[in-house]
Amino acid sequence: MLSLRLKTIESMVDPGKVVADIGTDHALLPVELVKSGKVDKVYAVDNKSGPYLRAMQYIKEQGCQDKITAILADGLTAVSDDADCWVIAGMGYDTAALILSQPTSIRQGQQLIVQVNHGVERMRRYLCDHGWQITDERIIFEAHYYQIIKAAKMKSVIRLKNEDISFGPILRNEKSPIFVQYWESEAEKLQRIVERLDRKNKRAQELQKQISSIVNMLNG
Ligand SMILES: C[S@@+](CC[C@H](N)C(=O)[O-])C[C@H]1O[C@@H](n2cnc3c(N)ncnc32)[C@H](O)[C@@H]1O
Repeated sequence: MLSLRLKTIESMVDPGKVVADIGTDHALLPVELVKSGKVDKVYAVDNKSGPYLRAMQYIKEQGCQDKITAILADGLTAVSDDADCWVIAGMGYDTAALILSQPTSIRQGQQLIVQVNHGVERMRRYLCDHGWQITDERIIFEAHYYQIIKAAKMKSVIRLKNEDISFGPILRNEKSPIFVQYWESEAEKLQRIVERLDRKNKRAQELQKQISSIVNMLNG
């Protein structure tokens, strides 16, 4: 049974894509993708032998060896050119950005689905600065809030405004109930910190600015 986070990622993959799941761990996502009939070819990549062996075992148990290739390698380095949808999920910003920075032949229209556990704003900035246009975004709650970004490699990218980087260009327009709940809880968290600081304190003023921008966005 897939977690809501992985189920949401699965739902964002376009049918018929050749998927490369980078940092696959147990290969839960690749198996779900092929068993549901959504895609016929997946590369399940991990750079550590424990997860790689777990992935191999699960793929075999589920009888998916003909459609899923397990690869022990760093990031994108061993992924073949036919992969047209990369998934990078369940890691921090630094690891995900390092993987995306690896030299690889990349064509226009290449898709990416990325979910970072920390640093989602930095991820949006990275994507925007490196020719990735954000095409879809989701936010879910499953013990934690997770934001999932889908992007496509483009010749030229529409620049994101600061509000887009902070809140997500699609999420901030949709303002789903989970999104509103998340940002209300963030504003409350910041407010509790501000209350413990001297109002003249520079940090308190910065936090107050952040709270105002959250409130303005939610009311906008
Ligand atoms: C926390 S797990 C996430 C598993 C799955 N993607 C998910 O979202 O549930 C992160 C996995 O990424 C792998 N990983 C970290 N850096 C990697 C890299 N540079 N290349 C390939 N795999 C990597 C780790 O070995 C680990 O199995």
